[in-house]
Amino acid sequence: MTDTLERPRALLPALQLGPITVDTPVVLAPMAGITNTAFRRLCREYGGGLYVNEMVTARALVERRPESLRIIKHEPDEVPRSVQLYSVDPVTTGRAVRMLVEEDRADHIDLNFGCPVPKVTRKGGGSALPWKIGLFESIVTTAVREAEQANIPVTVKMRKGIDEDHLTYLEAGRAARDAGVAAVALHGRTARQHYSGQADWDAIARLREALPDLPVLGNGDIWSAEDAVAMVQRTGVDGVVVGRGCQGRPWLFGDLQAAFEGREDRHRPNLTMVIETLLRHAKMLIPYFDGDERKAMQDIRKHVAWYFKGYPIGGALRSQLVLVETLDQLEDLLGQLDQSIGYPGEAAEGPRGRAGSPKKVHLPEDWLVSQELNEDQRQMIKAAEVDTSGG
Ligand SMILES: Cc1cc2nc3c(=O)[nH]c(=O)nc-3n(C[C@H](O)[C@H](O)[C@H](O)COP(=O)(O)O)c2cc1C
Repeated sequence: MTDTLERPRALLPALQLGPITVDTPVVLAPMAGITNTAFRRLCREYGGGLYVNEMVTARALVERRPESLRIIKHEPDEVPRSVQLYSVDPVTTGRAVRMLVEEDRADHIDLNFGCPVPKVTRKGGGSALPWKIGLFESIVTTAVREAEQANIPVTVKMRKGIDEDHLTYLEAGRAARDAGVAAVALHGRTARQHYSGQADWDAIARLREALPDLPVLGNGDIWSAEDAVAMVQRTGVDGVVVGRGCQGRPWLFGDLQAAFEGREDRHRPNLTMVIETLLRHAKMLIPYFDGDERKAMQDIRKHVAWYFKGYPIGGALRSQLVLVETLDQLEDLLGQLDQSIGYPGEAAEGPRGRAGSPKKVHLPEDWLVSQELNEDQRQMIKAAEVDTSGG
């Protein structure tokens, strides 16, 4: 008898981003205020993948603002070091990428063209930007050219467009490919949708088809390993990007790795495991905030509801947990929980985090009139360029 024990078949081959091989083609979506070194460590411990940090604005980075330098920090064992940049103009983009290259601060750079928040789209940034296709091309080309100096792959993350009447993803995808990116990721929503409704996986499939020679990653509404497998099967993508689904659930990356390796094992955490993870998360946030315990506890508050989703822990304790100010207090409150509580099943699964309803997209004046910048818009973009006065 030979070899009756077949190895499970991997769902997908490794994802190749320039010189970087991502064995499990799963990416932790960049999430501002969430994907810092502490949370990334928890996720990394469970599974393989690429773990992107929170977005950093190119301008803040070149001005060396302390918060931006904190955001791009990586732990010594974090390889590859992935940084997401947000920028509205090619000059600042180029400077920021050059800084990352010259100071050896990143191994992978992602460009954010998906942010839908008014503060960003009002200036023509994030999900508003690919509409100005010339500007988009110029930013991506500049980033790729600067990053090439150190053989650092650049990827682009974008939404479908501004709204259903102003879709940009196919044109922007082709432009990004021609500019030399290593992959594009598509969140299957428009800016107008924000986080409402359902991500359009058909659009992801269309982009996959439109770019046969470039890795395409799918993003939106992956809440479980099974969802990730379903997305791959339905769209043909080369990998998936997972955001809200892992909030309060870093073990999802273990499940994702298992699923991509063709295994059936999944994490079914009891309350003790959840408490231990939450506590470790809180403790790791303290060094991330340079020893500022209060800041770390303020930060952990937003994770509490996600960690305990589906676990019967009682309203009073929940409300005390989201007011926690010190680590002692947190430990004390967690110590009051009934540690015999097991995995609650479906109640702990499914959607979590931001949702809401469609929102008006705030844009610069006359933004949708043409896909070219007019003079006012050009001036606005130029003004976004590096201001060394520190204003
Ligand atoms: C709290 C939060 C912060 C986010 N911050 C960023 C960001 O900094 N950069 C970015 O490209 N996308 C950001 N996103 C979008 C996610 O990366 C992702 O595209 C989106 O949540 C859809 O994926 P999901 O359905 O897996 O959550 C953020 C999303 C959330 C919920």
